[in-house]
Amino acid sequence: MSYFSELINKRESTREYQNTPVEDIKLERCLEAARLAPSASNSQPWTFIVVNEPQLKDQVAKATFSKAVSFNKFTLEAPIMIAIVTEKSKITAQMGNFLKNQQYNLIDIGIATEHFCLQATEEGLGTCILGWFDEKKIKSLLSVPNNKRINIVISLGYPVDTPVREKIRKPMNQILRYNSYK
Ligand SMILES: Cc1cc2nc3c(=O)[nH]c(=O)nc-3n(C[C@H](O)[C@H](O)[C@H](O)COP(=O)(O)O)c2cc1C
Repeated sequence: MSYFSELINKRESTREYQNTPVEDIKLERCLEAARLAPSASNSQPWTFIVVNEPQLKDQVAKATFSKAVSFNKFTLEAPIMIAIVTEKSKITAQMGNFLKNQQYNLIDIGIATEHFCLQATEEGLGTCILGWFDEKKIKSLLSVPNNKRINIVISLGYPVDTPVREKIRKPMNQILRYNSYK
């Protein structure tokens, strides 16, 4: 199997973290991988806020779960959280949004997020992409202006050493068509 296929199989959502700090150089390589991601009109519509100050990190983690919806409680264990601020695309991509009824900046941050996560896997780190969080709270904690969006938060840290889980995915014949949808 090629190294890339192995990497894709190894990447999984990490929901148990060790208490080990993440080396700056590893974090920087993950951020560099995200920085190099492609984007519509090369807009690069993102700002990455690394939250590594422990008390602030805990506050951000607490904004990803509540008593009623507690599935993101594991984020308290992660030493780092990254909030991705979705910036405006370049005017050409914005025109594309309008004319083609698309949201290219969301597509772009999705790609950058996966670049980040795959590099983290290569570094022996674990990530979990989070879409469920109190956006208003996190924006306030991180001084993000009200008119901006945070669509993705990523937890990052060393995973507890467990075997890679089998991927639960739809079978290929359910998701693939050749030449026609029907
Ligand atoms: C946009 C997006 C939002 C997600 N939000 C959460 C989340 O809030 N909490 C969580 O535990 N996992 C979240 N996940 C992780 C998915 O549940 C996970 O990727 C999926 O179940 C496949 O499992 P795997 O990542 O281990 O391969 C999110 C993933 C994506 C792409």
